[in-house]
Amino acid sequence: MTPDGAAPRRHLRVVGELPGPRSRALRERELPHLAPGAQAIATYAGIAVDRGEGSDVVDVDGNRFLDVAAGIGVAALGYAHPRFVREVGEQLARTHIGSFTTEARVRALESVCSLLPSGLDQVQLYSGGTEAVESALRLARAFTGKFEVLSFWGGFHGKTSGALAQMGSDFKHGLGPLAPGALLSPYADCARCPFKLQHPSCGLLCVEFARDKLVKESTGSLAAIIVEPMQGTAGNLVPPREFLPAVAELARERGALLIADEMITGFGRTGRTFAVEHTGVRPDIMTLGKALAGGYPASAVATRHEIASAKPWSKPSFSSSSYGGNPLASAAVAASIGIIRDEGLVGRARDVGARLLGGLRRLEAKHASVRHVRGEGLLLGFDLVEPKTGAAWATDRCRALFDAALRRGLITMAYAPRVRINPPLVLRDDEADEAIDILDAALAEVGASA
Ligand SMILES: Cc1ncc(COP(=O)(O)O)c(C=O)c1O
Repeated sequence: MTPDGAAPRRHLRVVGELPGPRSRALRERELPHLAPGAQAIATYAGIAVDRGEGSDVVDVDGNRFLDVAAGIGVAALGYAHPRFVREVGEQLARTHIGSFTTEARVRALESVCSLLPSGLDQVQLYSGGTEAVESALRLARAFTGKFEVLSFWGGFHGKTSGALAQMGSDFKHGLGPLAPGALLSPYADCARCPFKLQHPSCGLLCVEFARDKLVKESTGSLAAIIVEPMQGTAGNLVPPREFLPAVAELARERGALLIADEMITGFGRTGRTFAVEHTGVRPDIMTLGKALAGGYPASAVATRHEIASAKPWSKPSFSSSSYGGNPLASAAVAASIGIIRDEGLVGRARDVGARLLGGLRRLEAKHASVRHVRGEGLLLGFDLVEPKTGAAWATDRCRALFDAALRRGLITMAYAPRVRINPPLVLRDDEADEAIDILDAALAEVGASA
């Protein structure tokens, strides 16, 4: 039902072939100049976007798509939120550049700090997620005087060289040598446990393995452990509740800082303001982005005063950047957090997320290829497998599902066998139901039931 109790509103979403003629014409002008390697979802969809409204994206041919990818978790407020447009627009008209104190930055910092776990009250602002991760790594090294960092398989932290070294995926293939001191260990990805064990009888062997690894591989110079409290890029994975506390304990034992990378999980996505709140773990440093500024490119490092004071990070111009915390970015941060708070979007993520999760479970019961439905709040996912062998779907099968959903007006991340669903936090109940209906029809079309 819609919030006012009205009947679900369904409209014709796709009016012609995809991509439509205007999209194709724009893409033909763009492609000679756009370097390869752009986001897969945009490359595969091939549409040119005209505007967005709420959870909908409208292309230049008049096709209207319900977007459950949301710029990979960035569009937390959806598109063209009136308050966001107004507050950011007003700031643009006044001043948008520079690092002087502005009322916008004061409001942004106060807003972020009002939400942070207790003890974290120092924030430095940046533009992109990977930039914040790099800064967090520099800060951990500055504070501890050590250099090694432990991270986890499947973890995604960004594509600059320090972050890349900590990535447990093929993003770094061919790009070595990377920063020394990177140690990686398996995450609690229990559906695919590399030790072939079952939780809870495994006793969290993954954390024991990391402990052992540090004994055998570390030079005794561990500065930090960086971890996504729930892994986004790896497939919106939710580890068992005891995983993060056990990782925090490991960091404490080694005198290392715990960095929680909440870039994708922060600001309500998982049905709590931050994903660490599901476990009570209090990290030493948090990295923030995406929903932080409602999609405006802004990111942040948050930490305690004693850590932020570490030199050289704390010396004038050492933790700053050209755009970080500029008045426009700051206005976007303050607007985004204000909207998330005033519209109760954390609770909304919890409620509509539960509804969507229920829908995905119904799809799992109906379609044999849908497995491992999972998630918290609006960080949801499922796997596409061949029912007889359990093997992940091949790329062309996933692409067929992605296309079938797109033709019905749903933008998904179904182009890979670990499907991630992370819609705007403003998603309505009727839109959640519509997304499930479209996925159901698309799965049937590509023969996922047998
Ligand atoms: C957990 C996490 N950390 C860091 C990043 C890097 O952010 P950016 O793409 O803004 O550099 C991402 C991006 O998806 C992310 O999900």
